[in-house]
Amino acid sequence: LITLKEAYKDYFKIGVAVNPDTLKNDGELIRTQFNSLTAENLMKPEELQPEEGRFTFEGADQIVQFAKENGMAMRGHTLLWHNQTPDWFFKDGDKTASRELALERMKTHIDTVLERYTDGFYAWDVVNEVIEDKGTDILRQSQWLEVVGEDFIEKAFQFAREASPEMGLFINDYNESHPEKRDKYYTLIKQLVDKGTPIDGVGLQAHWGLEDPSLDNIRAAIEKYASLGLTLQVTEMDVSVFNYDDRRTDLTEPTSEMLEKQAERYDAFFKLFREYSEHIDSVTLWAASDRYNWLNDFPVRGRKNWPMLFDENNQPKESFNRIT
Ligand code: XIL
Repeated sequence: LITLKEAYKDYFKIGVAVNPDTLKNDGELIRTQFNSLTAENLMKPEELQPEEGRFTFEGADQIVQFAKENGMAMRGHTLLWHNQTPDWFFKDGDKTASRELALERMKTHIDTVLERYTDGFYAWDVVNEVIEDKGTDILRQSQWLEVVGEDFIEKAFQFAREASPEMGLFINDYNESHPEKRDKYYTLIKQLVDKGTPIDGVGLQAHWGLEDPSLDNIRAAIEKYASLGLTLQVTEMDVSVFNYDDRRTDLTEPTSEMLEKQAERYDAFFKLFREYSEHIDSVTLWAASDRYNWLNDFPVRGRKNWPMLFDENNQPKESFNRIT
């Protein structure tokens, strides 16, 4: 059996999201199949700096260590986000922090994290999920937006560039292939590029379902973002065996029709990525197997989604066979 990283070695890196537990339990599968790692949670602001000035690197360091020992590259996620970010960033006693104070904390966080996590890293998500899903607003309401203002994104990229001049600096988002959000995402990125913001790439999270988004919409997204001259990375891929609006909770395992359809989807996606491999330089799966992944209880409680390439016993699924 050929491995994922061998199958795609002439095209792009094949990454996986991990944490110390999965490295311990599924280390063999991870080191055999993948050549890039992302911390699923441990490099997010609340994990790296739970209180102002108290940085906690142990868990994140374990991941970097595993990558080093196994000759794998690192993809960093994420310097700024509205989730998994402690409130202290935005507070001054019981008042809201001033713009200056919030910017100073942003800079300290970015400087400190990139000082430690540049060596061995090819990219970092500088901002995550800043686009608003609904309506006409481009930017999502967030504490960064409220406290700093619209230029918080440019500032973050500038601080990141100063801290780590060679790093691939990315913006990252989901629903990146849905027409309306795609246009907003494009508009924001184009504005950043036109202003000379030091941005290198666009992340497509790729949390996809059995039918949605369509292949055409994904292709259109890739073409649109690539037209800006930036590198693309697929950053958090999973393909649920359900459609998003299917809320059933009665299945204890996926049907063979679901697994077949899922395999067709993975196959079509990876063919598309290969077609655009001049622009796409890494594809990260958001877990190694159906045994453990964030969709085991989300978005529908008490239901698995069986979205990965390996099954609950870490055995290759039809989706794996099709793309290798
Ligand atoms: C998820 C993790 O997988 C979960 O373990 C955690 O509870 C919540 O965050 N978009 C992102 C990722 O950018 O950071 C999220 O990861 C999944 C959605």
